[in-house]
Amino acid sequence: MIAGNWKLHKTVAEAEAYIQALLPRVSTADGVEVVICPAYLALQAMVDSTRGSRVAVYAQNMHQAPEGAFTGEVSAPMLCELDVGGVILGHSERRELFGETDRALQLKVPAALEAGLQPILCVGETEDERDRGDTERKLRHQVQEGLAKVPIERLGEIVIAYEPIWAIGTGRVATPAQAQEAMAFVRALVADRSRAEADKTRVLYGGSVKPDNAAELLALPDVDGALVGGASLDAESFATIVAAAG
Ligand code: PGA
Repeated sequence: MIAGNWKLHKTVAEAEAYIQALLPRVSTADGVEVVICPAYLALQAMVDSTRGSRVAVYAQNMHQAPEGAFTGEVSAPMLCELDVGGVILGHSERRELFGETDRALQLKVPAALEAGLQPILCVGETEDERDRGDTERKLRHQVQEGLAKVPIERLGEIVIAYEPIWAIGTGRVATPAQAQEAMAFVRALVADRSRAEADKTRVLYGGSVKPDNAAELLALPDVDGALVGGASLDAESFATIVAAAG
């Protein structure tokens, strides 16, 4: 899976221009699940424009409740109504800037699954945590909390994105050794609950993935794809990353 997280970028008109440039460039990427994650307001337009193509459209967040007094939020049934295929949950920017908690994620991950949305649960350590030797402790906490209420037989359906926070938007990418070590650890955490499900779980790397470093990262044994921010905003550079996964 190669997923592009557009964050707070692209109006509907900009998204339309982008998708017309992207579709012909990824039409032959066999075996790669290509995902774009636009802002809420461009979801409907992107679902319509990608129908019949290999590109899936996911949201960047959702609320855990199906409805209620939660001003400014969007729910799983609302995303499903638009034919959105999945949702990023617990991105570090949601956690750091918007108070997203592990407790809410415990509910969001199973709520997305039950609604038929593919969840991408994001985890990752800060630079301080890595320097202190706390990377594994942080990952253990985030993975265990995020998956706590997922039934064991569905664990393998969750996509987990390992994104070292110090590598997001910084141009600093984890070394292959750092990425592989952390991602094998993430998979081992799933295996603590079910070895069979851990083999099915797809683990993505995120953090300054670019056309020139994608192939090396995607070749690592525990890397099943990438979550791409900045480099996904340009159709040509995103298509180059998709091609590196093919
Ligand atoms: P980046 O963002 O590729 O711009 O580092 C990755 C992400 O936030 O998912």
